[in-house]
Amino acid sequence: MQLFNLEGDIGVVTGALGKLGPIWVETLLEAGARVLALDRPGTPEAPAFLDLQARFGPERLALAFADVCRRPELEAALDRCGRIFGDPPTILVNNAGIDAPPAAGGKRHRLEEIPLAVNLRILEVNTAGLFLATQVFGGAMAKAHRGSVINIGSLYASVSPDARFYDHIPGDPPFIKPPAYGASKAAVLNLTKYLAAHMAPYGVRVNALSPGGVLGGQDEDFKRKFCARVPLGRMATAEDLRGPLLFLASPASAYVTGVNLKVDGGFTVW
Ligand SMILES: NC(=O)c1ccc[n+]([C@@H]2O[C@H](COP(=O)([O-])OP(=O)(O)OC[C@H]3O[C@@H](n4cnc5c(N)ncnc54)[C@H](O)[C@@H]3O)[C@@H](O)[C@H]2O)c1
Repeated sequence: MQLFNLEGDIGVVTGALGKLGPIWVETLLEAGARVLALDRPGTPEAPAFLDLQARFGPERLALAFADVCRRPELEAALDRCGRIFGDPPTILVNNAGIDAPPAAGGKRHRLEEIPLAVNLRILEVNTAGLFLATQVFGGAMAKAHRGSVINIGSLYASVSPDARFYDHIPGDPPFIKPPAYGASKAAVLNLTKYLAAHMAPYGVRVNALSPGGVLGGQDEDFKRKFCARVPLGRMATAEDLRGPLLFLASPASAYVTGVNLKVDGGFTVW
């Protein structure tokens, strides 16, 4: 099990206060790493994150605020990492991302009327922000000749959302996922290959982890329709995500770079 041991590692997780962030943070902590959790300034601490702080204490888990679209804030967070843990990071989980799920209740648009600004903001955070965070934290890893970057993609990097999943939700115009979400994640997959190629000479591996739909708050009709499309017949749980993250973060994947590890129950195979 030494292959999966992260003692001596320092992980940075962006978007750490959201739904999946605490899962990545906990996985790294449980494997022995120290973690600097990042989120956008002003984001409230999720109960799951507060539990981790209580469980692991400030020597193992620190929180800093930085917008992934603002390089000076990321650089300040990198400095903070050095001050708190004494070393640069060795693992970066690029998890911060935005979408527009039905529960968010945002203004709906017909396809031909979606404002460009909505798409540009999604691309800015999900793709450009991920690149910026990799420049800053991955740059420090490259200097130290050691590191693993894990870019959180999505099933929608590979396929289009099926609008029928949402056709039971009342309202006119009907709910559609923003087109930039999948486009931003598809771009992340190509960027993963680019970064893998360019950072390999500096001892840094770069891979993507693409979750399928993760269980949490979706309505019953959505879950029934979604699960019918999944070969394994269910949505993902937190437990399904831990092993794949640990694999990519640890020496267990020492000869793996540039891949997209799909953790989607087979959603994208047909
Ligand atoms: N939940 C799912 O079912 C699912 C499925 C596939 C992929 N994903 C991906 O997993 C990642 C996490 O998703 P989630 O469900 O936890 O989302 P979430 O909205 O619960 O959490 C995202 C976090 O990112 C932070 N964030 C947003 N913009 C930021 C910025 N500019 N700078 C720094 N932080 C910022 C938010 O404050 C939030 O805490 C995303 O990249 C998402 O696309 C999620």
